[in-house]
Amino acid sequence: MLGGGQDKIDAQHQKGKLSARERLHFLLDPGSFEEIGMLVTHRSSDFGMENQIIPGDGVITGYGTIHGRLVYVFSQDFTVFGGSLSETHAEKICKIMDMAMKNGAPVIGLNDSGGARIQEGVNSLGGYADIFYRNVQASGVVPQISAIMGPCAGGAVYSPAITDFILMVEQTSYMFVTGPNVVKTVTNEEVSSEDLGGAMAHAAKSGVTHFTAGNGLECIALIKRLLSYLPQNCEDTPPALPYTPGDEERPQLQHLIPEDSHQPYDMREVVAGIADEGSFLEVHKDYAENIVVGFARLAGKVIGIVGNQPMNLAGVLDVNSSRKGARFVRFCDSFNIPLLVLVDVPGFLPGTDQEWNGIIIHGAKLLYAFSEATVPRVTLITRKAYGGAYDVMNSKHIGADMNFAWPTAEIAVMGAKGASEIIFRKEILAAPDPQAMLSEKEQEYKEKFANPYRAASRGFVDEVIQPKDTRRKLIKAFAMLGNKVAHLPRKKHGNIPL
Ligand code: HXC
Repeated sequence: MLGGGQDKIDAQHQKGKLSARERLHFLLDPGSFEEIGMLVTHRSSDFGMENQIIPGDGVITGYGTIHGRLVYVFSQDFTVFGGSLSETHAEKICKIMDMAMKNGAPVIGLNDSGGARIQEGVNSLGGYADIFYRNVQASGVVPQISAIMGPCAGGAVYSPAITDFILMVEQTSYMFVTGPNVVKTVTNEEVSSEDLGGAMAHAAKSGVTHFTAGNGLECIALIKRLLSYLPQNCEDTPPALPYTPGDEERPQLQHLIPEDSHQPYDMREVVAGIADEGSFLEVHKDYAENIVVGFARLAGKVIGIVGNQPMNLAGVLDVNSSRKGARFVRFCDSFNIPLLVLVDVPGFLPGTDQEWNGIIIHGAKLLYAFSEATVPRVTLITRKAYGGAYDVMNSKHIGADMNFAWPTAEIAVMGAKGASEIIFRKEILAAPDPQAMLSEKEQEYKEKFANPYRAASRGFVDEVIQPKDTRRKLIKAFAMLGNKVAHLPRKKHGNIPL
């Protein structure tokens, strides 16, 4: 029960970390934890290991409940050989992963480990690969959540990377493929562990982590909140809360869009005006902030929201926001979470940086993810829906079920000024006052296209709605789509442009 001993537990506490058992105590419903494999020991006899046998071998595994729902858990114990992963340590994790897949419940891993058990060599590497393999088999079958609560380095990072969500604790956790010493030797860069692979580095720069928490307890609370939006497995639906229909009018949405279409506003305010109060859990909040993704409840039922964010880079789609959006859409589709897409997008970000970093391939990920999603899909265009980005952002053409637009929507190939400069170039140049001519043509183009009515007349938009009525309309639309059945053509699997 004491793992590597009280002195080592004290050392954990001194670093501001909880022990492996304390983490499970706070994570699981009181009295619900059942441990599996407490008496497992390693089989190594090299480097004097035969004299260092600690029951459990550095990882606590088992099952329990969170808010009454079954989960499988493992919690690495840094006090035992630095939580390093031996062959038997890996076997224990694999055992609960296999059970989770058979019995259809999420797997939660609390990671705190020095990596491969150095004394065991390839046996340890094999153990990691056994876990990676199961992470892949379980992907899309049961939700997998990884909390990084201490070190996670080398190849060990690839298990969390395959899971659905990563959470990191600020200051006490880090993830990297190679640490600061190797970085210094190879590239001559000087960087601290925190700067290289700490929570904020992965939240804002790499996008590896979906969430960060101030300390271990906050991290555990966040895991529980995240789980409250997720179904147990891919055959299940997410847990709904009771809902009493009320006055669904939201006047605060009516004047949210600024008169000047170049002015930004916060798409999270649109979300707040639509979703059940306080229900939005933003995912990847510090990464690619030009797109907002997260879970919310609408009339008690879970939905996934993807919205362009005019507050950041005018909500443009770029490499990172496309990848962020696509990953979230695929998660929702895997686990039967309907999608609401909020559109205010001026297009894809131009420039050599974007082109050379593959905006073509990465933008295609988002297009692909929406197109193959079979969950109910509803779109609301709040303002701009320009160019290819109109198609990509869950347009009717790629399978959206219901498409709404506010009267402020502008659905066009591009902005009115840019469009006029191209198609009326000759007239503008020949005019006695080119500027006046440009303004006139711009106005003409705006009247024709910078509105939702053309699209509505073609049926690409199902209804133009008043902002204040949005919540009511969306509740009805999602209820109507509640029994949606859609199948993809028979295939082994598609070939998403990775
Ligand atoms: C065996 C390990 C260990 C490991 C730590 N320990 N890592 N034992 N295998 N990988 C032991 C230490 O010997 C020590 O034992 C105890 O755990 C605590 O470690 P400390 O170093 O005292 O703790 P701390 O100062 O907090 O440093 C933590 C650490 C450091 C940064 C994680 O221990 C470290 O750098 N460890 C090695 C990391 C590493 O290179 N791992 C292999 C990565 S490659 P005592 O008995 O003194 O308490 C890898 C490949 C995976 O993981 C491949 C997958 C494909």
